[in-house]
Amino acid sequence: MNVRCASVWPMLCLLFLSKDGQADISTKNCKLYGGDGTPSVIEQNLLAKLEPLTKFNFTTQENENEKFTYRFRVCGQAGNITNGGLVQLDEKQQETVVGRYNSTQVIGGSDWIMLIYNEGDKYDHHCDKESRKAIVMISCNRKTVQSDFTVIVEERNRPHDCFYLFELDSNAACPAEVHQLSAGSILLIVFSSCLILYIIGGFLYQRLVVGAKGMEQFPNYSFWQDLGNLTADGCDFICRSRTQNAPPTYRGVASEPLGGEEVEERDDHLLPM
Ligand SMILES: *[C@@H]1O[C@H](CO)[C@@H](O)[C@H](O)[C@H]1NC(C)=O
Ligand SMILES: *[C@@H]1O[C@H](CO)[C@@H](O)[C@H](O)[C@H]1NC(C)=O
Ligand SMILES: *[C@@H]1O[C@H](CO)[C@@H](O)[C@H](O)[C@H]1NC(C)=O
Repeated sequence: MNVRCASVWPMLCLLFLSKDGQADISTKNCKLYGGDGTPSVIEQNLLAKLEPLTKFNFTTQENENEKFTYRFRVCGQAGNITNGGLVQLDEKQQETVVGRYNSTQVIGGSDWIMLIYNEGDKYDHHCDKESRKAIVMISCNRKTVQSDFTVIVEERNRPHDCFYLFELDSNAACPAEVHQLSAGSILLIVFSSCLILYIIGGFLYQRLVVGAKGMEQFPNYSFWQDLGNLTADGCDFICRSRTQNAPPTYRGVASEPLGGEEVEERDDHLLPM
């Protein structure tokens, strides 16, 4: 397949090859449970939110009489067993699959997502020898991409519907931040839109209908010109400290022309001899 594709579309092939090259774990690897029909869009969207978590290996230890280690990956293989998304390792590193990601369920609320892996290895004695099931509760924490993966409880002392419960903090479970516009900024946007519309509309009107040229193309040009002048006058009136009627201090130097005689004398030279 690669050979054919290489000869036809080398660039495209390169793209695929490089994508195959990396150990790419994506939420697409998860197979949604009961997926005989098309998987639910809600579940798919929730699962897609967990994409940033796919690149981490999660490990935690259970500190009780039985010393187990749990390893977990979002839509990826946590240990050596195919599809084992959450596995339990005993002291001899023997692996037991708690849940498989080819049988995933996702549910979520405003600030949490619950990832469920079904079809784990069957219990030996407990729970009617049903399959193990892993539930990972992912809570919103904006400060971290991933932290505090821990075992909460292993519920197996019941006739059926047993589960292993884990928890994890991540910003992936947080609701999208909504930046709401204040009333002031909405007003500002409306106002500036109207202004732009006015200028463009007026410009086109003046140019195409009235046939104005140059500065005259601006809508209500004379009005704005007058307004500008009036504003300048007002400013002048308010801001200037000196009253307008006061005689200007240095207008024309009222002194006798200096050296008037000399000028006349010099002028004499210019007269025709
Ligand atoms: C996670 O574990 C797998 C194998 O168990 C390993 O190949 C991979 O490099 C690890 N990834 C990280 C980010 O530690
Ligand atoms: C996976 O298998 C290899 C050898 O096949 C072994 O060294 C390794 O410890 C195993 N990893 C786990 C998590 O069981
Ligand atoms: C998931 O994979 C296991 C083997 O790894 C298989 O036995 C099981 O049937 C698969 N489940 C689904 C729903 O495909």
